[in-house]
Amino acid sequence: MTAEDQIADRLSAIDVFSPLSAEELKQLATATMGHVFAPGETLIRAGDEGSSMFVVNNGRVSVQVADKTGPRTVAVLTEGNFFGEMALFTGEPRTANVVALEETEVLEIGHAAMKHIFETNPSLAESISWTIAERQADLAAGSLQASQNSIQESAGVLASIKRFFGLR
Ligand code: CMP
Repeated sequence: MTAEDQIADRLSAIDVFSPLSAEELKQLATATMGHVFAPGETLIRAGDEGSSMFVVNNGRVSVQVADKTGPRTVAVLTEGNFFGEMALFTGEPRTANVVALEETEVLEIGHAAMKHIFETNPSLAESISWTIAERQADLAAGSLQASQNSIQESAGVLASIKRFFGLR
């Protein structure tokens, strides 16, 4: 198996990419860049601008936000999980810090590659907007109330993804 086939394989196991054909996965694999981070290294800093998302190829990262009492871990993401989609798809600043918990290899997917697959797979924007709305709700409070709002939020996120990527 070539390195690209391996990456395409990894991407195919990710829920939101399931509508993609083998050919599209291969194209996406070609457009990704691999990066390795050491334990404790910061991959994403809250407040920064960001125009790419990442898939964890191996290792583990922690998603942290600053609370009154210090850093609060909102999620730990592992092989096959993705992050960084919020800034990429909404154009807003990064919402959280993402820190490697161990040696971690990520695959970076940029704006141009995503725009291309959105154009051929409109349903993808919808499924990603669901994930974003859920994560936004978690960030807001982690309360039941917050997650019940996520249906309305998802519609808002979808509209903003479409605007941002110039999709109809
Ligand atoms: P982004 O805002 O671009 O950068 C920080 C990332 O952390 C964010 O995208 C999400 O991918 C991720 N993130 C934020 N909140 C959560 C959450 N509640 N659960 C999992 N991942 C999250």
